[in-house]
Amino acid sequence: MKPIKVSVQEMYGGSQKSYDAFLEELDQSLNPRSSDMLYDKFENLGPSPESAVLDIGCRDAAQACELSQRFGCRVIGIDLVNDNLQNAKKRIVEKELEQSVQVIQGDIHHLPFAEKSFDFIWCRDVLPHMDDLNQVFKSCRRVLKPNGKMLIFQMFTTHLFTSEDAAHFFLPLASKPENMSKPFFENAFTAAGFSIIESDILSSEWREYGEETESKITSKQLLRIARMRRNREQLVAKFGEKNYASELANCHWGVYQMLGKLSPTVYSLAK
Ligand SMILES: C[S@@+](CC[C@H](N)C(=O)[O-])C[C@H]1O[C@@H](n2cnc3c(N)ncnc32)[C@H](O)[C@@H]1O
Repeated sequence: MKPIKVSVQEMYGGSQKSYDAFLEELDQSLNPRSSDMLYDKFENLGPSPESAVLDIGCRDAAQACELSQRFGCRVIGIDLVNDNLQNAKKRIVEKELEQSVQVIQGDIHHLPFAEKSFDFIWCRDVLPHMDDLNQVFKSCRRVLKPNGKMLIFQMFTTHLFTSEDAAHFFLPLASKPENMSKPFFENAFTAAGFSIIESDILSSEWREYGEETESKITSKQLLRIARMRRNREQLVAKFGEKNYASELANCHWGVYQMLGKLSPTVYSLAK
């Protein structure tokens, strides 16, 4: 966008009425979708109680349980981090889903399953962390059945994300910059043999939804950034350099979506 020059007269001289009308319009919701839209996308891929689903990077199995409850399917979650798996196991027992949801420890680069084991792969917000995306997509394609499908939520940087932004962003989030470049990411899944059924750019929708409903997580993150900046020394002394850097970058993850520096896309892919 080219810069627009506005004079002092123009800036302060307009009618209050038209300014109020402008603000009133800005305060209208654009009806953003919530993260629940991922389940609608998944439903469009046709899961059934006979389906075997793999949730890669399942963390606490919240989504694995939800998938099983919504669609009656069998879900296996895999995650690298043992603490996550302990939480996942607790959740599965609490929800009495032991018959349909299981979790195992493992690395997505080398999925420990036989070829053609799953009808679907669910992958939400995991692939920025991968060392080798090409290997990951090969590994995913191998374990999918011939007409298997993969649903991915992936965050990307946009043209507004600068090298100064990058300097304090990727390393503390254990993420690789190239994985969050859309062309690089799309090349990797195309090279592995996946094709796009649908892709949907979300921009700031989930974040707007959070502000318009209860969570208000992004405005909380903005306030946290301000407090972290003013209180760095004390926080680092108490919680350590790594926790400080990681939470600061995490707060930017949210705020940057509102500023258009980050924008997620949801892909439905066919094997
Ligand atoms: C941002 S969290 C997303 C968790 C969950 N999918 C969600 O949307 O809430 C990323 C997850 O990926 C897991 N992870 C990262 N690298 C992994 C790997 N190489 N293999 C398996 N899991 C991995 C992390 O432990 C973490 O639970």
